Amino acid sequence: MGWLFLKVLFLGVTFLGCLYPLVDFCPSGETRGQKPNFVIILADDMGWGDLGANWAETKDTANLDKMAAEGMRFVDFHAAASTCSPSRASLLTGRLGLRNGVTHNFAVTSVGGLPLNETTLAEVLQQAGYVTGMIAKWGCSPVASLPGFDYYFGIPYSHDMGCTDTPGYNHPPCPACPRGDRPSRSLERDCYTDVALPLYENLNIVEQPVNLSSLAHKYAEKAIQFIQHASASGRPFLLYMGLAHMHVPISRTQLSADLRGRRPYGAGLREMDSLVGQIKDKVDRTAKENTFLWFTGDNGPWAQKCELAGSVGPFTGLWQTHQGGSPAKQTTWEGGHRVPALAYWPGRVPVNVTSTALLSVLDIFPTVVALAGASLPQDRHFDGLDASEVLFGWSQTGHRVLFHPNSGAAGEFGALQTVRLGSYKVFYVSGGAKACDGDVGREQHHDPPLIFNLEDDVAEAVPLDRGSAEYQDVLPKVREILADVLLDIAGDNTSRADYTRHPSVTPCCNPHHVACRCQATGWTDFPTGRC
Ligand SMILES: *[C@@H]1O[C@H](CO)[C@@H](O)[C@H](O)[C@H]1NC(C)=O
Ligand SMILES: *[C@@H]1O[C@H](CO)[C@@H](O)[C@H](O)[C@H]1NC(C)=O
Ligand SMILES: *[C@@H]1O[C@H](CO)[C@@H](O)[C@H](O)[C@H]1NC(C)=O
Ligand SMILES: *[C@@H]1O[C@H](CO)[C@@H](O)[C@H](O)[C@H]1NC(C)=O
Repeated sequence: MGWLFLKVLFLGVTFLGCLYPLVDFCPSGETRGQKPNFVIILADDMGWGDLGANWAETKDTANLDKMAAEGMRFVDFHAAASTCSPSRASLLTGRLGLRNGVTHNFAVTSVGGLPLNETTLAEVLQQAGYVTGMIAKWGCSPVASLPGFDYYFGIPYSHDMGCTDTPGYNHPPCPACPRGDRPSRSLERDCYTDVALPLYENLNIVEQPVNLSSLAHKYAEKAIQFIQHASASGRPFLLYMGLAHMHVPISRTQLSADLRGRRPYGAGLREMDSLVGQIKDKVDRTAKENTFLWFTGDNGPWAQKCELAGSVGPFTGLWQTHQGGSPAKQTTWEGGHRVPALAYWPGRVPVNVTSTALLSVLDIFPTVVALAGASLPQDRHFDGLDASEVLFGWSQTGHRVLFHPNSGAAGEFGALQTVRLGSYKVFYVSGGAKACDGDVGREQHHDPPLIFNLEDDVAEAVPLDRGSAEYQDVLPKVREILADVLLDIAGDNTSRADYTRHPSVTPCCNPHHVACRCQATGWTDFPTGRC
């Protein structure tokens, strides 16, 4: 399959001095080692408390903890949204959903995706001479448009959006579809309810359904190859790994001795930690002094998955839990968007340092562009800032203001109704996501807003008294900040994402092949052209 093909491909093309056949620009005089390489690893549904370095109760992240000791750990670092597609689209564009158009998740059959006139980080770096690769979960639908990436290996969306024969915890396997004859009535009911999850290499489906048990291993292999060959090409590289770990289903790996007997979530964390460790080792062996490795997450834990959800650490959102519902993923409570974050760059980022600067996934774009010596597109506004002074230990100042867009639990998708100002957190709308007990805290509007001071209330338990001087001081500032951002967005070039769905875009290796497990209208008309 793809593996051997890729090997041959690499041998062939490195000889010609050009890494990938999809790329029509071969190296043109770039000298070796001038610009830094970037490896950005994004975890999925990982809680702030899932990183041992953040939260001593967690003992499953030895490699990440080591990376924290060898680099900088951010304790007040936030995802750009509390759900997958908007969060990932913001990483790639440096812009909030209200600007880049991606305010909620795409579906398997979404016709559109990240708007093509948004400029991705990969496009900017490609223009600056970088080799660019994306591995793992894309999530910005469809795979046919991965703007700016020379190489892709992974799944197009979450691994619970499709069936597989090796599903892991909390996901049923693909129904077994017999070949040939029509199935019996009962099979007809059970069969083809779900499209099998595809694994892509560039634009080709190389496995369907994907084997989730061996996926982390393949990701590591492909990432190591990418780093190897990009380094050998003499050009700087960007590797973006948008993992699906710790999203359910948690994979059932071939349990090694140290994983046996552990709870599935802990075993899954160890699998991810080991994957990150392998990539870091490769960076250390290949391009240590010249590679900036950034690890963070796309949103907080998915509480409704109970023991298969991660830990929010101390960010327990108590005001919300008293109303019912979960204060994690999909919400604007800290548990929804405060994520683990680590920066590692030997010789540049100081070692074993904890930063309390208020930073965001939105900052990755401007920071990486600045470090690459490239420039931001001039015809639009960005929500992130260049955090390199913080990274290098020269400054402790991050954002004064950060917006947390609604991500499904309450309010309109993408709307900016939760604001962070210094240590204050202001809610104009609140609501819980579905909790483990099935409860959903109802949506509530607050005007005047609820204001918490995170400095002495990280659990967001007790809002400030509306009559207090502190409250009266913060309120007018927040009103002005919100009016300003809405004005700014109104005057910006904003894009619209196309969320329409059509069954014809369902990814399928070959609609006539039973292993594709395509969704069909019935056995009488076996899917043709639609899958
Ligand atoms: C999936 O991968 C695992 C680990 O490599 C292997 O043991 C297993 O046989 C594979 N399963 C299928 C259905 O291919
Ligand atoms: C990191 O710092 C902590 C305290 O600030 C110290 O206890 C620990 O030994 C340091 N670790 C390393 C690897 O330097
Ligand atoms: C929007 O795009 C147009 C055309 O590219 C450009 O002239 C204008 O300055 C842009 N507006 C902003 C706010 O950047
Ligand atoms: C994308 O295209 C739309 C429609 O032409 C336009 O309104 C919008 O400003 C563009 N976005 C950017 C970032 O230029």
